[in-house]
Amino acid sequence: TWTTGNVIEEQVEAIRALVGDKRAICGLSGGVDSAVAAALVQKAIGSQLTCVYVDHGLMRKGETEQVEKDFVAATGVQLKVVDAEERFLEALAGVSDPEEKRKIIGREFIRVFEQAQAEIIADEGPAVEFLVQGTLYPDVVESGGGTGTANIKSHHNVGGLPEDLEFKLIEPLRKLFKDEVRMVGQELGLPDEIVQRQPFPGPGLGIRIVGEVTKDRLDLLREADAIAREELTAAGLDREIWQCPVVLLADVRSVGVQGDGRTYGHPIVLRPVSSEDAMTADWSRLPYDVLAKISTRITNEVRDVNRVVLDVTSKPPGTIEWE
Ligand code: XMP
Repeated sequence: TWTTGNVIEEQVEAIRALVGDKRAICGLSGGVDSAVAAALVQKAIGSQLTCVYVDHGLMRKGETEQVEKDFVAATGVQLKVVDAEERFLEALAGVSDPEEKRKIIGREFIRVFEQAQAEIIADEGPAVEFLVQGTLYPDVVESGGGTGTANIKSHHNVGGLPEDLEFKLIEPLRKLFKDEVRMVGQELGLPDEIVQRQPFPGPGLGIRIVGEVTKDRLDLLREADAIAREELTAAGLDREIWQCPVVLLADVRSVGVQGDGRTYGHPIVLRPVSSEDAMTADWSRLPYDVLAKISTRITNEVRDVNRVVLDVTSKPPGTIEWE
C-alpha cells in the first residue's frame, strides 16, 4: 500500500545508491515541487546536495526572498543564488511565441545551472554529476513521456531540455500527483507556507505575458499579481482555489476612462481554477465582491491597466496557463 513513509524510504534508498559519493545540484523554483524534491534528496545525501536558485527575473513579488529565507531556514540546505535576470530578458527579447519562450527559458535555465555547476566543481570535492528536478506525473504525461499521450505543451522541466544536457537527472516525484507531493513535503517537515503553496510554472511570468516579455511588462504584471494574491488570501480562498494565474495581454489595448480622461491600456486576465491534479480544471466561481475588489484595485493601482477580465473556461478546452 502507498504511504508517504514508503515513498520517502524508497526514494532515499534509491537516491543514495544512484549518487554514491558524487554530488548533486538542484534548482529551486520557489514552488512546492522543487522544494519537496530538494528536501527529499537532502535527506538522502545531505551536504552532497547544493541547491541553486536562479533568479530569472520572471518571479512574482517577494518570491526570491521567500526561497532565500524560508526554505533555507526550514531545511538548512546549501543554497547558491544566481542573478540571471539580464541574461533571460536578453534571450527573450523580441519573442512572442509561447513554445519558443518555453524553450528559451528551459535552455537558459540549464545553461545557468551548468555555469553554477562549474563554480561548484571549482570548489574542492567529488564530481557534480546529477541534477534534481521536481517533475511530477502530470508533467511526464503531458509531455508525452509517460503514456504516449500527445505532447500538449513542452513543460520546461521535461520537454524543453536542450540536447547537450550534461547532467544525469534525478526525478524523485515522477510518479506522484500534487496532493501526494504535499503529503511527502509535510512528512519531511517542511512548513505549511511551502507545502501548501499553489502551483506556479517554471517559466514563471514569462508565459503569463501574451506578447513579448520585457522588464516593464513584468513589473506591471508583478503588481497586478500581488494584488490578486493579496485579496484572495484576505478572502480566505487560498485553499479553495487550485491556483489563479494573472495574465497580461500585452499585445491588446482597449479604450478606458480613468482619472481625467481617455486611456488606451492593457487588460489583465484573472484565471482562477479549481482542480485535483491540473490534468483537468474548472473555472472557480469566486464571489463577485472579491472579484470587484481585485478589479478596482488593479485598475487603480497598476499603471497602463484599464480593464480586468475573468476567464470562464474549463480545462479542457483551455489549459490553465495561457501559454
Ligand atoms: P496547463 O497550462 O498545462 O498547466 O494546464 C497545468 C499545470 O502545470 C503548471 N505548468 C507548469 N509547471 N513547468 C512547471 O513546472 C512548466 O513549464 C509549466 N507549465 C504549466 C501550471 O501552472 C498548472 O498548474
